[in-house]
Amino acid sequence: MVTGGAGYIGSHVTWMLGERGHEPVVLDNLSTGHADAVRGAPLIEADLCELDAVRAALAEQRPEAVMHFAALSIVAESVEDPRRYFHDNLVGALNLLDAMREHGVRLFVFSSTAATYGVPTEVPIPEEHPQLPVNPYGHSKLAIERMLAAYDEAYGLRHATLRYFNAAGAAPQQGLGERHRRETHLIPLLLQVAAGQRAEAQVFGRDYDTPDGTCVRDYIHVLDLAEAHLLALEHLAAQDRSVTLNLGTGEGHSVLEVLESVRRVTGHPLPARDCSRRPGDPPVLVAAARRAEVTLGWRATRSDLDALVASAWDFARAGGER
Ligand code: UFG
Repeated sequence: MVTGGAGYIGSHVTWMLGERGHEPVVLDNLSTGHADAVRGAPLIEADLCELDAVRAALAEQRPEAVMHFAALSIVAESVEDPRRYFHDNLVGALNLLDAMREHGVRLFVFSSTAATYGVPTEVPIPEEHPQLPVNPYGHSKLAIERMLAAYDEAYGLRHATLRYFNAAGAAPQQGLGERHRRETHLIPLLLQVAAGQRAEAQVFGRDYDTPDGTCVRDYIHVLDLAEAHLLALEHLAAQDRSVTLNLGTGEGHSVLEVLESVRRVTGHPLPARDCSRRPGDPPVLVAAARRAEVTLGWRATRSDLDALVASAWDFARAGGER
């Protein structure tokens, strides 16, 4: 069962699960997801905050494992409205885990985030790095990580906690990509400028303690993320042992480098305006990617910045959907 399978990352994973012979079923409330992004799987429209609906879905589907993508995930929004973030992310996870316990489902793949580390004191960031989030989104995900550790100990729930860095890119051949109703992410916003839908790009902060003064992020192709999820699921099923892994490339790119990449790929001059910092943004987030490689035999292979931007550009030019 894939919660949030109609969303950006969940829809790519659902498609890949189907391709590789699994039988995914998606549970999504469609608050931010799109029904037409669900490929090769039935869609159950239900809200994780409604315990009875979650119970009914698990009773009917009897999944072997749950992959949990459904969550609110926009840093700035979480700073403006923390209550909603704590409520939806925590109640949703609790209900899901309760229903899983009732139905004896013991395998859980969890979408966590680099935002649980806060402002890193060591870069690239290893999984053992202290977790001190600087925004409510990161706090909500960290609380779920703690829940999972306790549930493992007490109830034998086995989890793969996957801490994503910056998911980006698309699968244009499948008509899948990033389609947020209110876009806040850097690459899709820059592509909107290139497509003439937005006048100019904004650079949030030029005064960070980074080489060019703009924030550095580890951008990872969504299909690389999807591969890692399938491997994590197989690992959990085979090893009966929980794991926590960073999913990133190990390489960082500044906002200005991403701007340059989008200029190269699209051929658009991309006017950009310097703006003040965005609240809740750490200066640098780059993964130490070794543990995932050792544990899963996985590494990012599609995440070269220009190739990643080109995949998102192809998707955007095809109209963002098929
Ligand atoms: N940025 C700009 N201009 C914009 C949009 C973004 O300069 O118009 C900057 C941001 O300040 C940030 C970087 O581009 O430094 C990337 O911003 P995104 O909004 O694309 O991504 P975030 O790093 O804020 O967040 C993403 C996910 C989170 C996750 C986090 C972990 O949305 O869920 O990565 O790295 F927690």
